[in-house]
Amino acid sequence: MAKEKRMYICQECGYESLKWMGRCPGCSQWNTMAEEVIDKGIKTGAKGREGNTPVSLRTIDIAQETRHSTGFNELNRVLGGGIVKGSAILVGGDPGIGKSTLLLQMAGKLAQDLKILYITGEESIKQIKLRGERLGINDHNIFILAETDLNAMLHQIQESKPDLVIVDSIQTVYVPELASVPGSVGQVREAAGRLVRTAKQYSIPVFIVGHVTKQGALAGPRILEHMVDTVLYFEGERYQSYRIIRSVKNRFGSTNEIGVFEMKDEGLDEVTDPSRLMIEGRPHGVPGTVVVCSLKGTRPMLVEIQALISLSNLAMPRRMATGIDYNRLSMLLAVMEKRLGMQMQGQDAFVNVVGGLKIDEPAADLGIVIAVASSFQNRPVEGNTTFIGEVGLTGEIRAVSSIDKRINEARKMGFTKCIIPEGNKRQAKDKGIDIVGVTNIRETLDMVFKG
Ligand code: TYD
Ligand code: MG
Repeated sequence: MAKEKRMYICQECGYESLKWMGRCPGCSQWNTMAEEVIDKGIKTGAKGREGNTPVSLRTIDIAQETRHSTGFNELNRVLGGGIVKGSAILVGGDPGIGKSTLLLQMAGKLAQDLKILYITGEESIKQIKLRGERLGINDHNIFILAETDLNAMLHQIQESKPDLVIVDSIQTVYVPELASVPGSVGQVREAAGRLVRTAKQYSIPVFIVGHVTKQGALAGPRILEHMVDTVLYFEGERYQSYRIIRSVKNRFGSTNEIGVFEMKDEGLDEVTDPSRLMIEGRPHGVPGTVVVCSLKGTRPMLVEIQALISLSNLAMPRRMATGIDYNRLSMLLAVMEKRLGMQMQGQDAFVNVVGGLKIDEPAADLGIVIAVASSFQNRPVEGNTTFIGEVGLTGEIRAVSSIDKRINEARKMGFTKCIIPEGNKRQAKDKGIDIVGVTNIRETLDMVFKG
């Protein structure tokens, strides 16, 4: 048998070389050359291989293309309604955030009907057993395989035909045909590629765990994102107990959904009303805090936005945005200077979304403006009021989507007043709450901080 040919290929520009190089001569990027096995089967003019035959779209039967429920509603929603058979799902996240815990708990819930193969390269089978004991998982349908050799893994998958495979983690998987070390770009790519192919071939869903480095780059799961069907990120503040799972890519569902969990002593627990968690313990009667209602996928969520505006002693005052877009904050501050005459050039501005959530929709604009104004003027906002609205460059307040869902959530959480764009007022049908329509930020401020 001919020896497989190996090449180093730049992951940025595709430059090929027989030797590894630190810097790609093609695009001058550093550290982009990754080892790959070259398939010599492709020759120009070669006779086509017999493969699958085309099927008419109309005759394709999807009846058995059902999804498995993960046992966690929060996870099902993020996946778009459960696990699709034969799909490859990448679960990324910082070390220690709870990826292994989540997947083992999911395995525990699925094991009633399904045979699970949990391949671990990070922990010993005893360690998994210990974790299982802590989580109360003890099914005979969960098989643990401590293995790092990819070929041995694929062999086991083909032999034992499990209903679901978990690979924890891709950084430990080793492709013997490649000379590079496990965790390097070439290894990770090749291993993931073959795992994904096996998933498709046998219609077995595969969960692949990947660690992200602080830079999110080298051999992290980033390069795998285009190979898999779904990419989930599991995140959270290290020293806080809740965890958020969100999808950044999903061939079988929306990427807007998030799932919220809480890490407890006995494992992860679903949080069904995250609004309560997000606004719990918020201060009352102090300047610089406001509650907004933001939409996360199909679910509305109340979040607290805090702002601190304080005199700066720097020539270039600091601007810091956590959980919201920095440029969006700069724009809102500029609008406030121009339209409200609030002079913030000499002020440091810090804006923070409490609870580590990221808000990426403009419907939180009005809340941010009010929080900043509240801190700037050192006057508190009434605690029972929530703000919804997008702010335009002229200071106008623009309508947002799904207003009724948002108002409903605010009412459910005990808010008594909702300040919304005038343009949305017609659609707001919720009657159990005081609804005030506003058209621009000047008017809103006069109303909120009257007297
Ligand atoms: P783990 O799932 O090992 O993280 P990852 O696989 O993402 O690296 O999670 C480990 C952390 O979770 C560790 O800090 C301990 C904590 N933990 C709990 O708080 N409760 C539990 O029941 C378990 C199993 C872990
Ligand atoms: Mg782990």
